[in-house]
Amino acid sequence: MKVLIVGSGGREHAIAFSVSKSRKVEKIYCAPGNAGIAGVAECVDIKAMEFEKLADFACEKGIDLTIVGMDDPLVGGIVDVFEAKGLRIFGPRKNAAIIEGSKVFSKDLMKKYNIPTAAYESFDDAGAAKKYLMTCNYPIVLKADGLALGKGVLICNTKDEALEGVKTLMQDKQFGNAGNSIVIEEFLVGREVSVLCYCDGTHIKPMTSAQDHKRAKDNDEGLNTGGMGTFSPTPFYDTEAQAFCEKYVFQPTMDAMKKEGRDFVGILFVGLILTSDGPKVLEYNARFGDPEAQVVLPRMKTDIITVMDACIDGKIDEIELEFEDNAAVCVILASDGYPESYEKGKPITGLESFDGKEGYYVFHSGTRFDNGSIVTNGGRVLGITAKGVNLVEARKNAYEAVNWVDFSNKYMRNDIGKAIDECK
Ligand code: AMP
Ligand code: GLY
Repeated sequence: MKVLIVGSGGREHAIAFSVSKSRKVEKIYCAPGNAGIAGVAECVDIKAMEFEKLADFACEKGIDLTIVGMDDPLVGGIVDVFEAKGLRIFGPRKNAAIIEGSKVFSKDLMKKYNIPTAAYESFDDAGAAKKYLMTCNYPIVLKADGLALGKGVLICNTKDEALEGVKTLMQDKQFGNAGNSIVIEEFLVGREVSVLCYCDGTHIKPMTSAQDHKRAKDNDEGLNTGGMGTFSPTPFYDTEAQAFCEKYVFQPTMDAMKKEGRDFVGILFVGLILTSDGPKVLEYNARFGDPEAQVVLPRMKTDIITVMDACIDGKIDEIELEFEDNAAVCVILASDGYPESYEKGKPITGLESFDGKEGYYVFHSGTRFDNGSIVTNGGRVLGITAKGVNLVEARKNAYEAVNWVDFSNKYMRNDIGKAIDECK
């Protein structure tokens, strides 16, 4: 069969890699893709938000399945456009992707259906939000309602910071219309876990867990980024936490979406925090995480096409999802200065070192071709992933492999997976 993947980051490279392992697949296209994805797929120069062009391309090439990696097209309704033309596509429709597209929607859903999450209030008026802040305990968390590249969450330690935050989000509109409404929520303390789940509208199957590192600098300092590295599985998400989430979070979320007439098909990414009061939902995303996909997918034994087909056909309950009994760590190599300002276009050397190295992967996040060579093209550039029999070995392998490649403004965190040492 022929598969089209929509997106251009490390997550899409990891998806393309998994798809390329499927014996069912004879040809992969990726729109728009990047220089690494070009190694496993034919890249097509159509942007992820050009739904009509993408659908026309899928018709023309006889694409059997389209897989959407990114949030913006899902929230914008790409699945609805494809389905209207009779095309098969993996991902939630617009009315279900809102679970990621609107924090107010997702918080209200959790409240209505008793799914554990931080206490909150929502506001569409800056004056009312500021008045409410006078009554709060600190720290407190402000969240822009809409998509903001993972940067619309402000953790405010004082009332003054929070008042400034309301101004930034709602009045200065730093994230545009995403800040028309905001959620103000209780600050929770605990370890974070990402659990990505395959959903078919009725049933939900969680994958192996992962932990991201969102801050730019070591020791979780610096600004929030899209994610600077991951490990999988996370030992803190123990059998008790898993059982709790299956009973009180995952299936209840599927049932809630169904009751609302918003059947969720695709990947539901549940961002959890393990508090002393039990696991709580921090956020939902309607797609694979980036760089969670880079550590979860290389460990998945089940054929990804079989799983995605089962989701679309409402039969994920019939599939036994299997993961390797090992671990993986991904360290992001970024352009120095990310997530603020950074230079692009730097030549990358050493990529061939990964050829034929079992258990080592270089997933491209932001790269492009320049006169036949590969150069940097984004804040996050490469996701260096390695597997190991356990987390300690996977981390050692990943930090060995980061030295195989170089570019002039290469930057990384040196403490990805540090939490592993605290789990004994
Ligand atoms: P989100 O995009 O909602 O996952 O938020 C981004 C990051 O902000 C999370 O990964 C957490 O590290 C942090 N965060 C979000 N909500 C809370 C909260 N209620 N309490 C503490 N930290 C939070
Ligand atoms: N790594 C977090 C995300 O993809 O949203």
